[in-house]
Amino acid sequence: TDLSQIRNFSIIAHIDHGKSTLADRLIQRTGGLTDREMSAQVLDNMDIEKERGITIKAQTVRLDYVAKDGQTYALNLMDTPGHVDFAYEVSRSLAACEGALLVVDAAQGVEAQTLANVYQSIEHDHEIVPVINKIDLPAAEPEKVKAEIEEVIGLDASEAVLASAKSGIGIDDILEAIVTKIPAPKGDRDAPLEAMLVDSWYDPYLGVVILVRVMNGVIKKGQNIKFMIGGTEHLIDRVGCFRPKIEQLAELGPGEIGFITAQIKDISQTRVGDTITTVKNPATKPLPGFKEVQSVVFCGLFPVDANDFEKLRDSIGKLRLNDASFSFEMETSAALGFGFRCGFLGLLHLEIIQERLTREYDLDLITTAPSVVYDMHMKDGTVRHLHNPADMPDPNHIEMIEEPWIEAVIYCPDEYLGSILKLCQDRRGIQKNLTYVGGRAQVTYELPLNEVVFDFYDRLKSISRGYASFDYHQIGTREGDLVKMSILVNNEPVDALSMIVHRSAAEARGRHMCERLKDLIPRHLFKIPIQAAIGGKVIARETIAAMRKDVTAKCYGGDISRKKKLLDKQKEGKKRMREYGSVQIPQEAFIAALRMG
Ligand code: GTP
Repeated sequence: TDLSQIRNFSIIAHIDHGKSTLADRLIQRTGGLTDREMSAQVLDNMDIEKERGITIKAQTVRLDYVAKDGQTYALNLMDTPGHVDFAYEVSRSLAACEGALLVVDAAQGVEAQTLANVYQSIEHDHEIVPVINKIDLPAAEPEKVKAEIEEVIGLDASEAVLASAKSGIGIDDILEAIVTKIPAPKGDRDAPLEAMLVDSWYDPYLGVVILVRVMNGVIKKGQNIKFMIGGTEHLIDRVGCFRPKIEQLAELGPGEIGFITAQIKDISQTRVGDTITTVKNPATKPLPGFKEVQSVVFCGLFPVDANDFEKLRDSIGKLRLNDASFSFEMETSAALGFGFRCGFLGLLHLEIIQERLTREYDLDLITTAPSVVYDMHMKDGTVRHLHNPADMPDPNHIEMIEEPWIEAVIYCPDEYLGSILKLCQDRRGIQKNLTYVGGRAQVTYELPLNEVVFDFYDRLKSISRGYASFDYHQIGTREGDLVKMSILVNNEPVDALSMIVHRSAAEARGRHMCERLKDLIPRHLFKIPIQAAIGGKVIARETIAAMRKDVTAKCYGGDISRKKKLLDKQKEGKKRMREYGSVQIPQEAFIAALRMG
């Protein structure tokens, strides 16, 4: 394809502003699919994505569009993940494009995620085409949203396209704007091959599929290629694009986006952001912007039923086939037995994996307290990276501990600001900035990541009735006065519940955990002490009183069916419990106890 007839763009939007619906419309309008095939949203192709309405994996579609100038253009639409946890993948997708559609909900206006994405897009020198979506809604205020885009983002919104992805209004205008406003890609066909690895996933039939954007040179079947950062060499066996169905092509030239396969079995060989070149005539250096993916949040995953361990190992292995950004290694815990210590890009990523294991693989899991990575500066001069509170070294050997910090931008209606500021303050936040835009507040805080991983997002949503939006990025590590808090049930430490906390918050946290557990652990035939402790020092305690009678006692032995029912109920309860010494703790207690309420 001639460079002047290619347009590469992505759609940036806050969650729920209509990105997927619009993408589907564009595909439909340009004839990629029949109406029946359109019935399912195409770009979000995983179950969970659909249910949660979140795009997890980047996908790309090539559309043929005959513009008003009579020319046929190849439009490559990249779908980007809509959540902060996947910011690096988003950045690589944006680097593969020359422009972006900025979709803003006509009733909701600009949100935190919109801003974060727009700034990234601007950093990549994108031409940004504002689209005000959902103008069919009675609550739509397109003029107000236009003003907001100009005021908050500083983009000229006078030519913003007014659209309704749902009812099909403005779709042609959007396609024309893509062709006339977004610049064509540049590139040199005769230069050595430089193609960026934008994304990769495992397909049971094709093996690992790699999405690439060719910058210079040509990529074709039969070529020997090399991953410049990964260091491996492969023979290309397929080249093509998605329309959205797979179409094989002879080659991909400069400016083009498409896929390749090269008989790769292990997805960890394909690193997002790597540069693909030819073995014969290689490029001199990799393309800029590559970053190693790093797990930010860790937790232990254990099967409730120890017999499920093999199944868990299998399932985790399968998920990992498709997601190289999550890591795992085997872990044994005195109380929970065999399981895995897993690392994730963020909390949402953790939740997605946990949910898929539960739902798709039908596993009952215990998730231990999520933890961030702490840098332990030891007195002997070494630095240890701690991502499991259970491995905390003896505090006497620690010189100081550093913890990761983030900068968070929260966007909310004015009336919730007070409680949001209090939440951030309670979580050791440092306020950096506070501005107002059209009745809404935008507040910037620096926060320790460990205060955010538990339930910050849930709390934020609940105190703002869902109106606050939240976006963050990491800003490095800082020294913190941190201690390991252990929880003892019936005088035995439950390692799954131990956590690293700031000393100033330890007592309140400990008291809260003990109170929670008191309600969550059923009574036994004996008294159960619950304690929170730092080192040997108990900082909070509660006691669960002993059960007075056996549950069946009140049946007088007469009513057999009722008695059986009660026993069955008990058995049912048992399935979901873990035994700690002689105490049974229900699975729900682990998660519930960690919520700070
Ligand atoms: P993520 O994939 O989570 O980023 O969401 P999204 O931005 O892709 O939003 P999606 O396309 O899934 O749309 C969110 C909701 O808004 C859905 O219920 C859509 O039906 C609805 N929606 C999308 N476009 C319009 C529109 O133009 N008008 C109206 N009324 N509703 C729309």
